[in-house]
Amino acid sequence: MCGIIGYIGNNKASETIYDGLRRLEYRGYDSAGIAVVDNNQIICKKEPGKLSDLKNLLLDTFPSDSTIGIGHTRWATHGRPTTFNAHPHGDCKNSLMVAHNGIIENYIKLKKNLLAQGHKFVSETDSEVLAHLIEEKYTGDLKQAVLDALHEVEGAYAIAVIHKDHPDKILCARKNAPLLVGHGTNENFLASDVTPILPYTRKVTYLDNLEGALVTKDSIEFFDLTDGTPLSKESVTIDWNPVAAEKDGFPHFMLKEIYEQPQVIRNTIGGRTSEEEGKIYLDELGLTGPEIYRTQRIIIVACGTAYYAGCVAKYLLEEMVRIPVECDSASEFRYRKPLVDQNTLVIGISQSGETADTLEAIRLAKQMGAKVLGVVNAKDSTMTREVDGLVYIHAGPEIAVASTKAYIAMLTALTLLALMLGKIRSVLTPEYVKEKISELKVLPQKIEQILENTKPIQEIARKYINAKSFLYIGRGVNFPTAMEGALKLKEVSYIHAQAYAAGEMKHGPIALIDDKMPVFAILTKSDLYKKTLSNVEEVKARKGTVIALASEGDEHIQDVADNVIYIPEVSEVFSPIINAVPLQLFAYYVADFKGLDVDQPRNLAKSVTVE
Ligand code: AGP
Repeated sequence: MCGIIGYIGNNKASETIYDGLRRLEYRGYDSAGIAVVDNNQIICKKEPGKLSDLKNLLLDTFPSDSTIGIGHTRWATHGRPTTFNAHPHGDCKNSLMVAHNGIIENYIKLKKNLLAQGHKFVSETDSEVLAHLIEEKYTGDLKQAVLDALHEVEGAYAIAVIHKDHPDKILCARKNAPLLVGHGTNENFLASDVTPILPYTRKVTYLDNLEGALVTKDSIEFFDLTDGTPLSKESVTIDWNPVAAEKDGFPHFMLKEIYEQPQVIRNTIGGRTSEEEGKIYLDELGLTGPEIYRTQRIIIVACGTAYYAGCVAKYLLEEMVRIPVECDSASEFRYRKPLVDQNTLVIGISQSGETADTLEAIRLAKQMGAKVLGVVNAKDSTMTREVDGLVYIHAGPEIAVASTKAYIAMLTALTLLALMLGKIRSVLTPEYVKEKISELKVLPQKIEQILENTKPIQEIARKYINAKSFLYIGRGVNFPTAMEGALKLKEVSYIHAQAYAAGEMKHGPIALIDDKMPVFAILTKSDLYKKTLSNVEEVKARKGTVIALASEGDEHIQDVADNVIYIPEVSEVFSPIINAVPLQLFAYYVADFKGLDVDQPRNLAKSVTVE
């Protein structure tokens, strides 16, 4: 989604802001702009395009050395990517500028009223309404004008506001869109997330919903948006190393993050297991023993890759905890009439902790009396402040839009959760848990074996770069693996891919099979191996081509499949974790060989903070 950054201090604002916008690129965008207050005037430059193409406009020839400004990368929701639609947006008199992330749901009504009051609009966006609304309310007190304007706004917003009469302050506020402030020395920052300000400060304060801040060079005053009353808020120190958000020599963030996965699994496990006791420790779980015993069903809500992690967790939890588990797309859950009560545990899974549909789904679940658990990566994100309990996945900053290491971390965390709940509910014996803990701990080495030699996967990927469509098939706990593999290929290579439970092939999809429809079959060691193998043989009998993902030592598959990717054997319960890695690499290499923008695929955003 859109990215916002603001700076006030002693340095040239356009330089700090441009650098910060570059670090927000991963959020996906199609235009960018910078505005500053200079000698009681507003100076603003903005254009559609990538920041590398806008460097001359926004940096080299930016016509001001002002030390206060705001910047924005826009991911178009209302209105095409054009100069007028780019942010920041000004008022009629070019007295103020607003950068906005979110959606103003009542902007049509507001715009109509403002037009009737004589305001002139230049863009098609909902965001421009904010600039004119603040202008309408402004009588000299910028904070009050922002408060009064936001009282009329419905929807989601994270905003930053500057005014030519106030060269010493930036106003910012949030509702249902992420925003934080960074505490510097004789300088302060605001941004949509930590990555743009990490090189300058690691001390940040996250704004909660309906909170604002007045940011000057030497102070940050927090206030409640309802009535402007001052708030005192805790700051946190971010332990992410700024370098971590760089590429470390890899050609793309996506490949870097795939290679980080062995370490990510180690980080997710962290100090959460005791092999000798056969115990799992999830300190922030926030669920008491009685609450765990009282749980009669679990509903998992998530979107995209996180949803597929939830689908894997359904199999693990039903096997290890023996209670009914549903996994639902958050965008579906929140609009159906779900059956939720105080004996339901709802688990929201989200890398960013800011996905609008997932946040609304857990809010609905809480209203209906459920206990809500968050499985989240981004520390102090909105979801982490709204759930009853937490399991951080500790994947570190995930920059590539296509999620890889966060998925692996989600699966690892959900496996720990299933083992813990199964032990507490006496479904699992300590011996079983000990055995699984020790196997989980060797998983990183097995993934490292795959990463040490990706040549076979690269060679297969090169063969299929012109494919127009793919089927991915799997069974049991690897049916969601097939879904995630198909999503990765779609996201980064733009090749259509559809996942099916392998048992479904005969019920229609096999009609698609011919020599132009390759099938990627998950055929690693499993109780369902033979069943899936027969589906593959049916595909071959119809001249289909098959790529098989198989466990080392499986000689037979070479006589059946056209291409085989071998990976180390693991217990079926851990196979979704290791199986995801070759599927990620396959999608990555197909996209890279096609010369596509792997880290920022077209039309996609890293965090979908609006519906
Ligand atoms: C995954 O590769 C996609 N980028 C997307 O499906 C993502 O998983 C989804 O938007 C959910 O994001 P979240 O985990 O931050 O909630």
